[in-house]
Order: sequence, then structure tokens, then C-alpha cells
Amino acid sequence: MLTVRAPATSANLGSGFDVFGVALGTPADVVRVKRAPETTITITGAGSQYIPEDPEQNTVGAVADALDAPAHIKIDKGVRPSSGLGSSAASAAAAAVALNALYDRGLSREELVPVAAEGEALVSGEAHADNVAPSLLGGFTVVTDDGVSQVDARIPVVACLPETTVSTRDARGVVPDTASLEDVVDTVGNAATLTVGMTRDDPELVGRGMEDAIVTPERTALIDGYDQVRDAALEAGATGVTVSGAGPGVLAVCHRSDQRAIAGAMVDAFDSAGIESRAYQTHIG
Ligand code: HSE
Repeated sequence: MLTVRAPATSANLGSGFDVFGVALGTPADVVRVKRAPETTITITGAGSQYIPEDPEQNTVGAVADALDAPAHIKIDKGVRPSSGLGSSAASAAAAAVALNALYDRGLSREELVPVAAEGEALVSGEAHADNVAPSLLGGFTVVTDDGVSQVDARIPVVACLPETTVSTRDARGVVPDTASLEDVVDTVGNAATLTVGMTRDDPELVGRGMEDAIVTPERTALIDGYDQVRDAALEAGATGVTVSGAGPGVLAVCHRSDQRAIAGAMVDAFDSAGIESRAYQTHIG
């Protein structure tokens, strides 16, 4: 039996909708695979009761199909589904690495990005790769139609997950079709600032560069308590706050020395809104 761990991820980072993604130190999914005539899937761990084990309906089944690599696949979920931390992508990425090795397919991590993204299409209706890319490659990734760029950034973050859920399909439904030139110019500037920050491991530049006036405001409306949680994190020292992926997770970038206070402030703010939450004090990388 072959075992692979793949990390949670946060996509978008505000200004990089469907383009930016980061790997997080914790949580992570662990996938174990063994050759078999037909693919079967068993799932344990966080939110496993909500994930279909039918290979036709599971991201990992799509990956096994794409690699023509049938197997008994055991998924131990550390990344809760529908939380905004790339849960399905972590399983897909781990399965892609594991099955590629199990069947000696010889694909590189970069070549596995579109394979793992096949699984994402099952969940969200589109094969976007902004979660699977960082889960496979680590650090900060930039995904475009022409390929993936990667930077080995390392920056402290707090990822706070409320007990509520938002489906990626619903969160994509509120994304506006058009934007003003002014908002596009601002967003390009912020995305560029964030990218420079990643190359310098600079939480100030990354935090500032997460500002986004196009997609994020529409999505925060779907997250009960978001405004209070963002304000509390900023008050406690966060250099920037945004929705993690499609939500409802909230991501705060910070200096290491402020991490504990920010985690406490975010959990307290959700609590004041009547929502239980869990904060991961972790890092991009
Ligand atoms: N970029 C995608 C979105 C990621 O925000 O809809 C979803 O996990």
C-alpha cells in the first residue's frame, strides 16, 4: 500500500480569482492506494459522511480514470469539505501522486496538475486548477491557461473555518459577469503587489495585495459574521484578510508574533455571531 499526504490550500487570495493559490502547512488529507481490478473508495475523517464513495461521483475516482489506474483507495480526510480550504483538491492531488507512482506513469508534479483538476470538474462543474496546483507543488502558485508558475513562499497565516458551509457552485453563482475598468486596474495592481510580496516572504505586501473589489464583496455576503471576523483579525494585527477559496473559511495573513492573537480574535468574532469555528495557525509553504 502506497501512502501520500497532500495539504489544504487557499485559492484566489482576493485579487487573484481563479489564478492564485497557496499550500498550507495544515490540515492535510492522506490517501492510501493499492492496485485493484476496479476502483473502490473508502473515506474516513473530517466530513467524510458528506462525501460520496462512488468512484463516479468522487474527485479521486475521476483521477483514477484519467490515469487509467484502478485501485482500492482509502482517503483519510483532514481537510473538511465545503470549508474553503480545497478539500476535494487535496484528495485529488494526493491520489494523483499516489496512483502515478503505483502504476509507474512517470508524470511530473506539473503534469499531474491537469489530471487532478479533472476531479475538480466533478465538484464545481469546471476543471479549475487553483487548488490542485498548490496542493501538488507547494508554496504560492499562479495558474493560467498557459500553465503554472510557482514560488516557494513561506508566510504565516490563520485560516478560520466556521461550522457553516458554502458550496463552490453557489459561490460561483454570485461572481459578477463584468467589472468596471477602475476595479480591474485596482485588482491588477493588488495582484502584482501580492506577487512581489510572495517572492519576498513579506506579509505586509501580501496582505495589502489581497484587496479585491470585484468578486470578494459578492461572496462575503454569503458568509454570516464575515465583516466582524475580518475587522477583529485586522484589529489583532492581520496584514490582510480575505475569503479562502469559495468560502466560508476566512484567511488572515500576518506576522508570526500576531498569529495566536488573531486566531483567538477570529474565533471570538464568529462566536459573537452565534457560529462555532476552528482556527488553524499555520503558514503558506
Ligand atoms: N477559484 C475557485 C473559486 C476555487 O473561488 O470558485 C474554489 O475552490
